[in-house]
Amino acid sequence: MKRILLLALALSVGLFATAQEEVTVTFVGGSSGLGLDLDRASAEAYMAENPHTIGGTEYNVTVNVVPGPESATDRLGLYRQFFQARSAEADVLMIDVIWPGDLAANLIDLYQFEGFQEAVEAHFPAIVQNNTVDGVLVGMPWYTDAGLLYYRTDLLEEYGYDGPPETWTELEEMATTIQEGVRQNNPDFYGFVWQGNAYEGLTCDALEWIASNDGGDIVNPEGVITIANENAIDILEQAAGWVGTISPPGVTGFQEEDARRFFQAGNAAFMRNWPYAYSIGQNPETSEIAGLFDVSPLPRGSVEGGSPAATLGGWQLAVSRYSQNPAVAADVALYYASYENQKVRAIEGSFNPTIEALYEDEEVLAAVPFFGELLGVFTNAVARPSTVTAPNYAEVSRAFFTAVHDVLTGQEDAETALLIAEAEIQEITGFETGTPE
Ligand code: GLC
Repeated sequence: MKRILLLALALSVGLFATAQEEVTVTFVGGSSGLGLDLDRASAEAYMAENPHTIGGTEYNVTVNVVPGPESATDRLGLYRQFFQARSAEADVLMIDVIWPGDLAANLIDLYQFEGFQEAVEAHFPAIVQNNTVDGVLVGMPWYTDAGLLYYRTDLLEEYGYDGPPETWTELEEMATTIQEGVRQNNPDFYGFVWQGNAYEGLTCDALEWIASNDGGDIVNPEGVITIANENAIDILEQAAGWVGTISPPGVTGFQEEDARRFFQAGNAAFMRNWPYAYSIGQNPETSEIAGLFDVSPLPRGSVEGGSPAATLGGWQLAVSRYSQNPAVAADVALYYASYENQKVRAIEGSFNPTIEALYEDEEVLAAVPFFGELLGVFTNAVARPSTVTAPNYAEVSRAFFTAVHDVLTGQEDAETALLIAEAEIQEITGFETGTPE
């Protein structure tokens, strides 16, 4: 009797074969460069394949793409608000490479859904490992990042340089000369733009300076705080000297997009940025300098043993613990991270794939030649100490970028600032201090 009733109920609400469940999945997506446009295009492509069969049920899925805050620090703040409120508002979240450990408790294990075990095989193992916390896959690799030096090929040639600078000191000299010359016609011109605002982006830039000057990586993988060392102090003092000389005074408020717009308007000789700034800068419809720039590894510090360092960045796709449709959300994430979609994002937006085979794809290499030429920069990038300090990485990073910002704005000398950061990081982590190897 009961069974017959259930059957009747199922028939009446149309749970049988032909019926489709209508589901909306909200994706909190990108906001830099072409990120948002591409996120929307991916949503369209996914929806064009409706209905999707997921776990035996047919779904008619609407993917609602909303841009998240541009600053990684602000984005993390927003996600934490969602989690605190147990909000079902966001289903799929792009999460930074530094967040798996900090956010694991709020994200679901993607391995419980079809397709993930097989799909991760194609991605860089180091990223998969980074995104796996206690055996749980909290984020599907989506794109990877590493800091690059953008330089104006036309201006280097005009001022008699035969290639990009190899040391920060060389960059200073070249930037000074070019700036002096170009200023005759363009008073808004500066030598070098980068990310100097007090946020996660400054942690990335400053880690590059310090690591390139043989000053370690803030907290080493064994859990030793190494930040207050002489090589780190020296290079921070050097960087502070750029503010208001080769870099605009406002650089201490710059994020990625500020630097990109400045450079793209033709107002700087050099820029530190991530790969996404390449495609959009090479488009004559959006850029003043299309065809007039190239990218290289970042310069190194002048200390003996200094070598170029790029901070490892990148984004993963996670499903919120509070999503009401986790299986569908996971399927959307799987699609966004697929070969097909990463290929489109690589070609159109120069977002670095996390799928190794795409670095051998002819169409990708033709559109973004440096993916091949600078492969070593991407595979040898320096990681921030997020795994070893989890779940407190965000606090550690804040202590670090606040100290660096104080040095850049002249509020503190580098030695004092780094000693303060060291003490704070000790307080947060309970780790010992030591010297970088
Ligand atoms: C880029 C990187 C990310 C980093 C952020 C800092 O988005 O991919 O890892 O945290 O920049 O601004």
